[in-house]
Amino acid sequence: QQVVSKDIWLFGYGSLMWKTGFDFEESRLALLEDHARRFWQGSEDHRGVPGAPGRVVTLVHAPGERCWGMAYRLHADQLDEILVSLDFREKGGYERELITMAFRTGEEVKGLTYFATSANPHYLGYSPDNEIARQIAGSHGPSGSNKEYILQLHHTLTDHAVQDEHVSTLAKLVQQLTEQQV
Ligand code: SIN
Repeated sequence: QQVVSKDIWLFGYGSLMWKTGFDFEESRLALLEDHARRFWQGSEDHRGVPGAPGRVVTLVHAPGERCWGMAYRLHADQLDEILVSLDFREKGGYERELITMAFRTGEEVKGLTYFATSANPHYLGYSPDNEIARQIAGSHGPSGSNKEYILQLHHTLTDHAVQDEHVSTLAKLVQQLTEQQV
């Protein structure tokens, strides 16, 4: 007899890597092919305020690159409730998207991720590193400082031995800028 599992995998590459706030059956490091993590999304509801947005990560298409993140297997029975609360948390420009992620074993699964495309009103896009770092260093919002967001992300990636040059370069610049302010 075939057992049909309705469990769904959710891929997190930003705050969902260190701050879940939902129950899950298991978590595994996973990657998205041809995508990169970038601090290109403005945040007016978490790490900034209206008129003074912070910067948080989104995914961009990047042929040949890989974005490592954390995949969570969500129990089918809890799915609706979890997605309602995540839709609220990610309402600042993120849409749910169906993607295919791969585990370290090479095994692939379909699942969901929250993706903020360039079409959303909070999207900021590319800026030189020193400008992004300055914006992060000076931004605060209801969820805390933007500096805490990038340092948490950087530490989480490091803990999982994931190298992400964009994040580590910016984290270093933000540290330098904020040390200068003391
Ligand atoms: C995510 O974590 O996967 C989405 C972006 C964020 O909430 O930081």
